[in-house]
Amino acid sequence: MDFNIAVQYLKQRCGAIPETAIVLGSGLSTLADLIEDKIIIPYKDIPGFVQSTVEGHSGNLIFGNLSGKRVVCQQGRFHYYEGWSLEQITFPVRVFALLGVKNYIATNAAGSLNETMTPGQIVLIKDHINHLGVNPLRGVNLSEFGVRFPSLHDAYSYQLRELALKTAQENAISLKEGVYIAVSGPSFETKAECKMFASWGADVVGMSTVPGVIVAVHCGLKVLAFSVVTNMTNIFHSLEHTHEDVQKAAELAKDNLELIISQILKKI
Ligand code: HPA
Repeated sequence: MDFNIAVQYLKQRCGAIPETAIVLGSGLSTLADLIEDKIIIPYKDIPGFVQSTVEGHSGNLIFGNLSGKRVVCQQGRFHYYEGWSLEQITFPVRVFALLGVKNYIATNAAGSLNETMTPGQIVLIKDHINHLGVNPLRGVNLSEFGVRFPSLHDAYSYQLRELALKTAQENAISLKEGVYIAVSGPSFETKAECKMFASWGADVVGMSTVPGVIVAVHCGLKVLAFSVVTNMTNIFHSLEHTHEDVQKAAELAKDNLELIISQILKKI
C-alpha cells in the first residue's frame, strides 16, 4: 500500500501537523464538534482510505485544534467484520505516523463482562486480548515503521493512563481500568463465549481498536484507549441487544469522555 501518496495529499490540506490522533467509536463521533478551525476531509477523497459502512460511523478525517492542541480525528473507523483486510483497517494509523503524529487515542463501544462495569461506564483499557485470530503485522515487516517483533508490554501507555485516571478523579468522573477483548463480529457473542472471556480476565468485549493499537505501537506511537460500556453481555441476562442500544448508551457517557479527552490533551 502506498502510504506516501495519502501523506502527501493530507500534508497539502491539513494545515499544521497534528500531535495526537483520536479515533471516535460507535455513537462517540460528536467529540469532533468541539474541534476548532476544522478542516474536514472525507475518506473518499484520501488516496488509500476505505469507507466505513456502519450506521453511526461517519467517514471523515477532521484536522483542527482541541484544548489548544493540534489534533486529527478519525470520525468513523473501519472494522474487520465489514470485510476489510487488517492492512486496510490500519492504513490510517501508518499515515498518521508518517505525518508526524505522536499520540494515538482510541475510543470504542463495548459490552461488559464484568458486573461492576454497567452501561454508561467509561473503561480505561489497560491491556487487551486479541481474539481476532489474525494480527495486522502478519506478512513482510515494514521496517520503516518498526521492528519485526514489537513488544506489547506497555501497549497502553502507563504514563498516559496515569494522566487519564488523575484527570477523571479531578473531574469526579468514574473511570475504571479494564482488559478489552477484541472479537471479529459481526454477530454478538454467545453466553458460553462470554463466560470464557470473563474467565480469561477480560472485562469488556468489542469488535474494534486492537488492530489499530498494535499498528500504532509498532509505529512507536503512545497509545491511550477508552471503552464506553453500552450493554451488559448475556452472562448477566438473556435479553437481546441491538446496534441501536449501543448508540443510545454511548450517548450517556459521551460528555464525560469528551471532557476527559479534552483535559488530557492540555497535559500531553
Ligand atoms: N459485543 C461486542 N461488541 C460490542 C458489544 C458487545 O456486547 N457492545 C458494543 N460493541
